[in-house]
Amino acid sequence: MLAELSPALIAEVELAAKLLTSKQHICILTGAGISAESGIPTFRDKQTGLWENYGVEDLATPEAFTRDPKLVWSWYQWRRQLVADKKPNPAHVALAQWQYHTQSSNQSLTLITQNVDDLHEQAGSMVTHLHGNLWHNRCSQCETACQGQSRASYHSEDTINFDDTLMTCPHCGGYIRPDIVWFGEALPVQAWQTAEDAAANCEVFLSIGTSSLVYPAAGLAQLAKQNGAKIIEINPNPTPNTIVDITLAEKAGVIMPLLIQKITAL
Ligand code: OAD
Repeated sequence: MLAELSPALIAEVELAAKLLTSKQHICILTGAGISAESGIPTFRDKQTGLWENYGVEDLATPEAFTRDPKLVWSWYQWRRQLVADKKPNPAHVALAQWQYHTQSSNQSLTLITQNVDDLHEQAGSMVTHLHGNLWHNRCSQCETACQGQSRASYHSEDTINFDDTLMTCPHCGGYIRPDIVWFGEALPVQAWQTAEDAAANCEVFLSIGTSSLVYPAAGLAQLAKQNGAKIIEINPNPTPNTIVDITLAEKAGVIMPLLIQKITAL
């Protein structure tokens, strides 16, 4: 793996490792890019197949659910199928190892994700979800949490039944929706508080696999910077993030194991 990386990139990884070991408070924000190597498409990938004619406004807004709840529910059923058998990749594993490693040091490492998959948890990490969890449901009216089908019942080869009856809430009869933050909705209060505190108080902010386009999560790096933190970004593609101090322009699954190897060796 090392042979594939340029000497300049390896030098940047070493610089990042030194910075990360020299500071006490680290905040990490992950996005869809960290799960890309597990086979989960990012949001910037073009929608294909069943969903290519739909935009985000048709599938991931409260208005869309009011207009056509079966369509929105079907999309999330499809996404659950897509994600059900996906496994953590070396980037998730490296992060979990690092978190474990810091338990016996005086470092504090807060991991925040915009992802609704549970690959960080599967890898063994403790993580705060800013945009909800694909495997949780709640009532669209009274907000009561509600269990759905078991994860084991989702198979990627199953076809989606658009005529499925929607589940309704046993308390108020409202439709059950995925417990996910849609466009135009507020983030969960506790999760956002954790993220803001960690960003405002960190000395290094590590951004992994996010396009830095969707706010308020994209503002966390700016908050960290305003409070004196250094910013490290891992992304094979350029982002609009202009406040980055160290850019590691490679896939997270390549960089993270190397970075953690260097951190734990220092
Ligand atoms: P995006 O899909 O916007 O961006 C994914 C980023 O990952 C891009 O910048 C890619 O260049 C990068 N990337 C791709 N493969 C990578 C790899 N192997 N390693 C590292 N980076 C890689 O995803 P997010 O920034 O997470 O919101 O999107 C933010 C939010 O927009 C999502 O949480 C979702 C979406 O609308 C909600 O669902 C509320």
